Amino acid sequence: MAGWKINLVAALLLISSQGHASQGHAGTAVRVTVHADQPGAVIHREIYGQFAEQLGRGIYGGIWVGEDSSIPNIRGYRKDVVDALKAIKVPVIRWPGGCFADQYDWHDGVGPRDQRPVRLNASWGGQENNHFGTHEFMDLAELIGAKTYLSINVGTGSPREMSQWIEYITADGDTSLARERRANGRDRPWRLDYIGIGNEMWGCGGSMRPQFYADVYRQYATFVHAPEHKPIIKIASGANADDVAWTDTVMSLAGSQIDAISLHNYTIPTGDWSHKGSATHFDEAQWMSTLQGALHMDELIARHSAVMDKYDPSKRVGLAVDEWGIWTDQEPGAGDAALFQQNSLRDAISAAITLDIFHAHADRVRMANIAQMVNVLQAMILTDKAKMVLTPTYYVFDLYKVFQDATSLPVDVQGATYRYGAVSVPGVHATAGRDAAGVVHVALVNLDPHHADTVQVRLDGLRASSVQGKLLTAPQMTSINTFDQPHEVQPTAFDGAKFGAGILTVALPSKSVVVLDIR
Ligand code: AHR
Repeated sequence: MAGWKINLVAALLLISSQGHASQGHAGTAVRVTVHADQPGAVIHREIYGQFAEQLGRGIYGGIWVGEDSSIPNIRGYRKDVVDALKAIKVPVIRWPGGCFADQYDWHDGVGPRDQRPVRLNASWGGQENNHFGTHEFMDLAELIGAKTYLSINVGTGSPREMSQWIEYITADGDTSLARERRANGRDRPWRLDYIGIGNEMWGCGGSMRPQFYADVYRQYATFVHAPEHKPIIKIASGANADDVAWTDTVMSLAGSQIDAISLHNYTIPTGDWSHKGSATHFDEAQWMSTLQGALHMDELIARHSAVMDKYDPSKRVGLAVDEWGIWTDQEPGAGDAALFQQNSLRDAISAAITLDIFHAHADRVRMANIAQMVNVLQAMILTDKAKMVLTPTYYVFDLYKVFQDATSLPVDVQGATYRYGAVSVPGVHATAGRDAAGVVHVALVNLDPHHADTVQVRLDGLRASSVQGKLLTAPQMTSINTFDQPHEVQPTAFDGAKFGAGILTVALPSKSVVVLDIR
């Protein structure tokens, strides 16, 4: 451990020069070891997946404005949103729900738009005019280069409807459904990568018991006919948060037919679903409780994965955390924009912690889909008519895109604790990965809203001499980007990392995310 005896004074001067020194933490260096000599599993890029449900302004106004809109668009998709999504390399999009999916008839959403039926959106209120349907979704994915993940209607649908939907999308021959697709404007079949067989089958998907659902899953799985050489990955509807009994039963009864099983977990700042807390007006107690919620993902994955190990020790079956994020009260004045919430620096820190945890479990977690992509819950992007703003969460996905398909490198963190009242959590969170070009990326997150840290990063098994970094922070825990002030929380160049005696010393500001590229 001789490498740790570096010049602490120099490190503290570094912090002071950035104006972030704090009495409380001065002298208490945090030690991070990156085990570059012990590479782990690949961080599947699909961990950076998105979820887009037909609700509120998630689709209409957020992604789809129609070809005749005065808002600049590409064949009906907002150009600003498409460009922003491309920039973060969205790897996969889950659609059309959510709870919406188990009441969705795919046939409503194909054919001439002006002839599509208008239905009640029974899950989320308002009306669904079906202008955004199968063609619009599959073409959007193609436009931004994302894989496709359809949630299949199991609650009120049938295996026949599912098979026909899959055939409509993927058939290359001269079947009636392929002809119908061509008549509707798409000659070539699309690539369908994933299907979810039902959504939250324990709740809005049909209030099923796991034993019953396992049989229903087996029935549906039997009738998934993928085109030759283009397998469709089948994802079973998994547990709500810590309900490991659900995972256990479904894995035991249907595990051999499952490619992945899902897990849903939302962080509610107050812990009370009837009053979840504000996205913008919160105190340090709720800052802490929200970060604790994000940290809980580690235990959740470990517990579900341990149950899966009983039936699948080789980890053939993936865990797909296909709904996660912070869920607050709806933004006052959001009107019919259901589940519209603002997004602060707290969301960014929380997202970074969660992504770190997914990396650490990359051997089991093969996909994750934050809820949701635009204008709903912990969104990447908010829109209001022609205006658009990128959220702090967006910028974490932007900084972290370097981890997509990187090889995870184990990381130990010692010496940092953030305390608030009687509660304490690790003060610094970290992750690391090596990309295909050999560059090692290290992310450091400071959970403490008041104290900067000096972080000494030791890179075992790596000879490196150059470092570049980016920093995401803001003046307040509650700092947000608005349509009028869109640049309050956005990444800046970071020059607070220096090599010396084989150790990288990082002056990590309070409440911040730093991503370093090390060569
Ligand atoms: O993301 C919002 C809702 O949360 C989804 O529709 C549902 O699956 C979950 O309960």
